[in-house]
Amino acid sequence: DELPFNESFRPQFHFSPPTQWMNDPNGMVYWDGEYHLFYQHYPDSNVWGPMHWGHAVSNDLVHWEHLPIALYPDENGWIFSGSAVMDLENTSGLGSVENPAMVAIFTFHDPIGEKEGRDDFQTQGIAYSTDKGRTWSMYEGNPVLKSPGIKDFRDPKVFWHEDSNNWIMSLAVKDKISFYASPNLIEWTYLSDFNPTWAAYGGVWECPDLFPLTTETGETKWILFVSINPGGPQGGSATQYFVGDFDGKSFASTTQSVKWLDWGADNYAGVTWSNVPDQDGRRLFIGWMGNWNYAQVVPTSPWRSAMTVPRSLHLSKKDDDYLLISKPIEELRKLRVSNSQIKGEEILLESELIELDLRTTSSNFRMELANAKGEKLVFTGNNQSITLDRSQSGKIDFDKGFSNLQIAPLNGINVQSLTVYLDRSSIEVFVNSGELVLTSIQFPNEPYNKLILEGFDASSQIYPLKRIW
Ligand code: FRU
Repeated sequence: DELPFNESFRPQFHFSPPTQWMNDPNGMVYWDGEYHLFYQHYPDSNVWGPMHWGHAVSNDLVHWEHLPIALYPDENGWIFSGSAVMDLENTSGLGSVENPAMVAIFTFHDPIGEKEGRDDFQTQGIAYSTDKGRTWSMYEGNPVLKSPGIKDFRDPKVFWHEDSNNWIMSLAVKDKISFYASPNLIEWTYLSDFNPTWAAYGGVWECPDLFPLTTETGETKWILFVSINPGGPQGGSATQYFVGDFDGKSFASTTQSVKWLDWGADNYAGVTWSNVPDQDGRRLFIGWMGNWNYAQVVPTSPWRSAMTVPRSLHLSKKDDDYLLISKPIEELRKLRVSNSQIKGEEILLESELIELDLRTTSSNFRMELANAKGEKLVFTGNNQSITLDRSQSGKIDFDKGFSNLQIAPLNGINVQSLTVYLDRSSIEVFVNSGELVLTSIQFPNEPYNKLILEGFDASSQIYPLKRIW
């Protein structure tokens, strides 16, 4: 127990804040050998409150160095979610071409305006750093984008769009996404709205992201992420995505049905890294491993929440439909301590941190993780769907809906493999290397030490993993 980051339920290879509350990942940007991760943070409590941007950096997206808080609330309000870019051409004049500014674009949430019943209490602001994100200055002319008087007006995600020679901002505006353009990150012009009738509207739209992906056959499409809360497939929070085209002004969806980035209960508000070097070429994603239905009452202290494992995103085309593929990043293989083949159907686990690479032998399969207290987490599949049952997984009574079954339809996917990451309080299952993903948290009163399998091949592998702290 002398180890740091070793409290009960503390994630051992997932990112979590040293103490207190965390929600959305923010401002992910790569610069000069470092992946930056900022996050929604309330440093005075382990429930949500006046938001700051916490900060960490990593060289490999696996090991993280915690840094001091980057952004504090000011007279414009609390610092809600947003993004960060490298202003390489110094369009903003806030840095130089030799030493470009890292610019954060985020929402100011003005609690006074909200209390006084004004509807324009969310505006967009910017801040900049010219020392690798170590120190930050607020732009003096904030806010850079005032509210048109719509209460939900937030979560700017910005990227440089070569073709139109502009910065493009995607913004969540109540139940639509609005796009804005700017030559300099300071003056913004409204472009268009996106809100097709057939999308998921169970709750408010939040945390958009817009980026291109190219299929294996060389077709480039634009992906739009929209997190919604509530209204997710397992109740509460979830992220839907659209596949379509962006012409510098508006986004048109080619797909015409609701698609979920992750079918589990606990992957929300995730977005992708900006400025990842071309030679890497990956579209890298991380999500908040939580759900607003119960995030503030999960049984952890002195911190709350963790991020998913980082994932790389890919696009595949099947018949006339597009499917987003999420793969755990390859760097995670560094965590493997050893590997062994799975022999038999009941395996004693030597570690509470494991990766499993399971090959199915049947469309009916079952995986149970259990401990001596009779607690268990059960994952099953048939040719229609996969299901995760956490109703007996450990501590569950902090929320009524927490024990609901999580069911995901396969929609024609033929399950051949499962890649599973098990940490102290989470499980992530990637079907067929990411064709379908299910992310979920659980709180066993002691570690699961037994794995019981049915319907998997003996060539399946188990890898005990190392902790990162
Ligand atoms: C999503 C969200 C964002 C907002 C932030 C506030 O979880 O509600 O829309 O900016 O959290 O912490």
